[in-house]
Amino acid sequence: MAQIFHPSTNVLAQVSLVAVVVLPLGLLVGGSAISRSPWNTKVNVPKDQPAPFSHQHHTVELGIDCRYCHNSVEKSPYSNVPSTAACYTCHSQIWTNSPLLEPVRNSIASGAPLRWNQLHTVPDFVYFNHSIHVNRGLNCNICHGPIQKEMITYKGRPFFMAWCLNCHRSPEEFVGKREDVFSVYKKNQFEQPVIDEESKNSESELERAKATHLTDEQAARLEGKEYTRTEAELDEGKKLLSKYKVKKQQLTDCSVCHR
Ligand code: HEC
Ligand code: HEC
Ligand code: HEC
Ligand code: HEC
Ligand code: HEC
Repeated sequence: MAQIFHPSTNVLAQVSLVAVVVLPLGLLVGGSAISRSPWNTKVNVPKDQPAPFSHQHHTVELGIDCRYCHNSVEKSPYSNVPSTAACYTCHSQIWTNSPLLEPVRNSIASGAPLRWNQLHTVPDFVYFNHSIHVNRGLNCNICHGPIQKEMITYKGRPFFMAWCLNCHRSPEEFVGKREDVFSVYKKNQFEQPVIDEESKNSESELERAKATHLTDEQAARLEGKEYTRTEAELDEGKKLLSKYKVKKQQLTDCSVCHR
């Protein structure tokens, strides 16, 4: 039988097959690498802010409670950043001549609020609720990274859907006691090391934290690190889930986050 296609079309077919199958795959992999890169997700990338606010100074060194400034975080679906008035209760008295505080003074004088650029966001089509998470004893650092020790605030996590779902699938790995959410920062600041002089003076905050009465889990979370719970801790987590009446099966329903 006569050949309908010249043998060279075979090569052409192979090349176009490669183009059709491999190229889009490459684009997909490359594209998702880009969409997951810090350049796109802005994780660990600082944003310009109207004043150089340091969490390290204010929360670790001065020990101000998160709720002094983020006072809606445990009561409302939305957290908030503080008004200039919250800064001025102190900065009308202390560090009053600091050039770094000029924007705060200007804001008070002019009445124009400081416009902080929000770092952590989910898209508009996603529903999120702060108070319910905080009331299930989820530590701020699980979602925001080691924010309390940052001199400039960074975004600690990319809020991919898979990341939300990872916890919604097995919340017993994360839930904790409600009262520990904020007390852990006080503990980190005030509790005296038990014995170990070496750990106390260590460079690493994790080592220092371990030298206090913080649990291994708390110490790891404070650093924004992953932590795998022990069997006993998981049992505790499961008990808390039933105490909180969390309906685990429904937590992964699309309608929980897409309403
Ligand atoms: C409870 C009191 C208090 C509150 C509230 C407070 N600060 Fe401070 N702030 C201080 C103290 C004390 C220092 C000095 C800390 C140090 O140098 O260790 C300071 C230091 C600073 C500095 C560094 C000044 C310099 O010259 O080094 C800046 C900037 C600053 N605060 C901004 C703010 C902003 C913005 C707010 C509001 C969001 C705020 N502070 C709220 C007590 C406070
Ligand atoms: C003295 C006031 C003050 C205290 C206390 C404070 N913060 Fe903040 N926080 C701010 C200000 C001002 C901003 C916005 C500027 C910035 O991003 O640095 C902010 C930003 C944040 C953000 C990022 C918000 C965004 O844009 O996505 C998180 C998360 C956060 N704080 C968590 C905490 C936690 C956790 C604590 C307690 C350990 C805490 N803060 C204590 C003033 C405060
Ligand atoms: C389960 C994860 C999770 C936990 C736990 C969590 N947050 Fe958030 N936080 C988020 C998400 C998601 C956003 C973005 C919400 C949005 O886009 O509306 C956010 C946003 C914020 C903002 C920005 C608000 C603004 O208007 O600029 C602040 C401040 C904040 N969180 C503080 C805290 C503090 C303080 C705690 C601990 C008491 C905490 N968060 C615990 C997930 C979390
Ligand atoms: C570390 C664990 C954890 C992470 C991360 C987490 N969640 Fe949750 N979330 C929970 C738990 C636990 C509950 C269950 C609360 C209950 O039913 O008592 C919950 C409940 C919810 C609810 C239900 C609120 C309501 O009113 O019924 C929404 C919405 C939600 N989460 C959205 C999100 C989104 C969006 C993200 C990611 C940006 C996220 N969550 C990340 C643990 C987490
Ligand atoms: C725990 C919260 C949560 C649940 C449950 C959830 N999503 Fe999402 N979803 C998110 C978040 C956060 C984003 C935005 C971040 C991202 O794109 O990864 C998102 C994004 C999406 C997007 C847009 C993707 C994109 O690339 O733009 C689609 C489509 C989607 N979700 C579908 C679903 C479906 C279908 C289900 C049920 C099987 C579901 N989601 C369940 C949190 C959730």
